[in-house]
Amino acid sequence: MKLQPICDCELSERLLYTSFILLMGLGYLMALAFLYTSFENVDGKPGLSVGDIAEDYYGNRSGSRLEAAIRGPMSAYIQIDDRSTIVSWLKSGASQKDYESEIKPILAKRCFACHTPASGLAIPNLSTYEGIQEVTNVDTGMSIHSLMKISHIHLFGIGLILFGVGMVFRRVEMRCGLKSTLIVLPFVAILVDIMAWFLTKWDPIYAYTVVIAGAVLGLCLAIQIFTSLYQMWFKPPSQGPCQT
Ligand code: HEC
Repeated sequence: MKLQPICDCELSERLLYTSFILLMGLGYLMALAFLYTSFENVDGKPGLSVGDIAEDYYGNRSGSRLEAAIRGPMSAYIQIDDRSTIVSWLKSGASQKDYESEIKPILAKRCFACHTPASGLAIPNLSTYEGIQEVTNVDTGMSIHSLMKISHIHLFGIGLILFGVGMVFRRVEMRCGLKSTLIVLPFVAILVDIMAWFLTKWDPIYAYTVVIAGAVLGLCLAIQIFTSLYQMWFKPPSQGPCQT
């Protein structure tokens, strides 16, 4: 059965398709803006880069959150020699014995004003060994558990978006091979993208795959949206006048 070309469909149907794909396009742009603002500073350098993506999934394994804090935002509260003591304690495995004898006294002087439950702030409690362990572990990036959570949301969500936009796009007039490619490619891209999130946890080099697959997905979606809009509103009808 031959599909009715999109340029021949009646006004109400065109309005339905247009509203739907415009909303999906806007949603996509919003997702990009969200991605940019949440990832841009992960690696400490301005702008979104492959490094940000790698660090978000793989983590920054060269140090712990405690080390990052005393070298960065908390550095004003500590002196160099105290900092070296803490860093060498971290590097030597952060044992409880040394915490009690060496580290706790330093923290008590410099950090307990804020970092105890008494302060009422929702920040790590550094006054107990259990509390400090929250920030002494090496940063291994997003947990597999959170990855599974965002993966399934993306698979369902993007799958449905691609299905909806694809249902409209399949009625544009275009070479059959090209059209089929543009319909299947974004599905492959999101699959590869999500697999690459997991691979990036294992080796940060796969952050490039995440970026490339994401770009392919965005490009295919944009082509589908713009061709559909163009053929619905600007292309002359293929079989007689449009029924409006
Ligand atoms: C004046 C209050 C204050 C003092 C003193 C202070 N901190 Fe903090 N610290 C904060 C606040 C507020 C945050 C949460 C905001 C942030 O992450 O920048 C925080 C966050 C942290 C974090 C968590 C960073 C992360 O990865 O989430 C660590 C670790 C930390 N501080 C360590 C220290 C150490 C070690 C000292 C002492 C040398 C210290 N802080 C002294 C207020 C303080």
